[in-house]
Amino acid sequence: MSDEATIRAALARLETVHDEAGLAAWHRDVLGRRGSLSEALRTLGSLPESERRQAGQRLNTLKAELEAAFAARQEAVRAELLDHRLAGEGVDVTLPGRRHPLGGLHPLTAMIREVTDIWAHLGFQTVEGPEVELAKYSFDMLNIPKDHPARDVWDTIHIESDAAEITLRPHTSPMQVRIMLQQQPPVRVVVPGRVYRYEAQDATHEWHFHQLEGLAVDRHITMADLRGTLAEFARQIFGAERKVRFRCDYFPFVEPGVDMSIDCPFCSGKGCRICKYSGWIEILGAGMVHPNVLRWVGYDPDVYSGWAFGMGFERLTMLKYGVNDIRAFFSNDLRFLGQFQRARL
Ligand code: DAH
Repeated sequence: MSDEATIRAALARLETVHDEAGLAAWHRDVLGRRGSLSEALRTLGSLPESERRQAGQRLNTLKAELEAAFAARQEAVRAELLDHRLAGEGVDVTLPGRRHPLGGLHPLTAMIREVTDIWAHLGFQTVEGPEVELAKYSFDMLNIPKDHPARDVWDTIHIESDAAEITLRPHTSPMQVRIMLQQQPPVRVVVPGRVYRYEAQDATHEWHFHQLEGLAVDRHITMADLRGTLAEFARQIFGAERKVRFRCDYFPFVEPGVDMSIDCPFCSGKGCRICKYSGWIEILGAGMVHPNVLRWVGYDPDVYSGWAFGMGFERLTMLKYGVNDIRAFFSNDLRFLGQFQRARL
């Protein structure tokens, strides 16, 4: 190939280079120590004297031309690369912002806060207690002696221990005992918390769930206080027009014991699927604290009396929001949980 042709080919190839690696390769092949230009210069020696000088001059001009072309291309490639990068990094300030998903309170947490807030306004302090509990507090001191059939009502999960009988608490009632052992009347507390039972799970049963315990002890406390206070609570949570109904029930640590129902908020007591056409929905158990329980914590039952109640948070939340499967609370499904998020601005 003539020098001219070589050069034209090299220049044409230079135009196809678009990155640093291509520039380096071109430089190596054309202007490098073993490049085509050096090769041509090396052949000068074999030319006759008369031609050598002229050929040398021509090659030097070519070399200058190639170097200039390379420098120009190098600059152009770098500018191209920069443009490309800037285009990629460009920010369109008119695009709407990207929304970050925000966490929110679990419906049960929200309900626990709402309910304990109502009780705070009724004069009840919120306290919490251990979930791993001595059977002494879960049962014995609540008037449920060993071998008493009532002990079987709670499908207790036992923890192996040589020293003492220990359970995952099957209800929040043991906190009644702990509180009364710690303080003198007047007592007004509510105790929200997790409880555990050995249960088969279905739409209305979970092996762990949440309860609220309530306890009021003072001089001259009567069943009228129980009734008035619980009715007020029911109205604050389910609407001012709610009616309440009390019926006899049995819990070993109260005497008398009752359960409380509200007239069905979905059909106003007319009867529907949710209240099973009875017009009433049972929401809690309650009663006057048994004299034995008072006596065993060192309160004189002739001086003091009290009332207590226990309620399930899942049931309350299901009723309030029309949730039909208790398992939804614990399956961590954001499609369910997201429905309880407060509207966001
Ligand atoms: N502890 C009972 C349960 O888990 C509920 C209960 C009923 C609590 C009556 C009370 C009460 O304080 O007075 O089923």
